[in-house]
Amino acid sequence: MYCIIGANGFLGSYILKSILNKTQERVVACCRDISLVGDTLKDERITWKNLDICDFDAVNSFCNEYKSEDKKIVYLAAYHNPDLVEKNPRTAWNTNVTALSFFLNAMENVSAFYYPSSDSVYGNSIDGKVFKEDDKTNPVNTYGKQKALAEKIVNTYGYQVVRYPFLIGTSLLSAKKHFYDSIVENLKFGDGMDMFSDSYRSTISFKQAADYLVDLIEMGDKHPIVNISSDKALSKYDVGIIIAEKLGVDKNLVRAIKVEDSEGIFVAKRASSTIMDNKLLKSIFKLEEISLEI
Ligand SMILES: NC(=O)c1ccc[n+]([C@@H]2O[C@H](COP(=O)([O-])OP(=O)(O)OC[C@H]3O[C@@H](n4cnc5c(N)ncnc54)[C@H](OP(=O)(O)O)[C@@H]3O)[C@@H](O)[C@H]2O)c1
Repeated sequence: MYCIIGANGFLGSYILKSILNKTQERVVACCRDISLVGDTLKDERITWKNLDICDFDAVNSFCNEYKSEDKKIVYLAAYHNPDLVEKNPRTAWNTNVTALSFFLNAMENVSAFYYPSSDSVYGNSIDGKVFKEDDKTNPVNTYGKQKALAEKIVNTYGYQVVRYPFLIGTSLLSAKKHFYDSIVENLKFGDGMDMFSDSYRSTISFKQAADYLVDLIEMGDKHPIVNISSDKALSKYDVGIIIAEKLGVDKNLVRAIKVEDSEGIFVAKRASSTIMDNKLLKSIFKLEEISLEI
């Protein structure tokens, strides 16, 4: 059985689809308010449960209910907007560190536990540095620091971490649009879109992110940390151009802007570029190439 914590989010919804496509397993999917789960995420193999991971009584009774079942867990619940984390570090710590640690220690009978982390743990790719899994972490903001600590807690417990870059793709959630959907809308209606051209990430799609993760779990991979990313570092502007090509609209609708000219829009510091090495992932799956598929 799979157990997805924080399942009604962008990545969670893709992971649910991937589990249904690739396995015959049942899934217990948790989120804070199951009345917000749309029909597209309902399936006879999925049991939806309300669970706020900061409510320790509720976590204890949830863990007790599923104590005897063998579980593969993907833990997605997080307070992860870097600007909000910078403004509310205690609230973020409670969700990202304390609740994660409590859950790990409360849940028994776990055959796999995967924690999706972020390239933000690496910090800046100075002089085009391409970060490998065992490089020293050097996060530039509180979100990245909390993710780095959460990874250590998960690894110390004997469980697995995957690190993702900026993820993109259409939202599968009826109530929440993704940045991708806004780009598509603005390009289709001719409004155009300003996109950063001087900040690079090893971007992949939500579907790729979910599929590689489920494949790692299904093959029983036990590397402590795996980077799941593409070969090529792309700016948001590059991604905009790829989307414009896909839609067949004028590429000039994607307008290049610079992060350095956009001072004041972010509260938390951001790494200007973070580039990830994906050789381990490619060696696990015997792949020559991984590029963004949208
Ligand atoms: N998207 C990316 O580009 C990216 C890149 C690297 C890593 N990640 C990591 O992937 C994970 C999922 O991200 P996402 O993009 O899918 O974000 P998301 O759409 O905001 O999903 C996060 C989920 O966590 C849930 N959650 C938050 N606090 C909770 C709590 N106290 N109890 C239970 N559930 C709670 C949210 O539930 P509500 O709907 O109730 O708020 C939401 O469903 C995060 O850990 C994030 O750091 C994402």
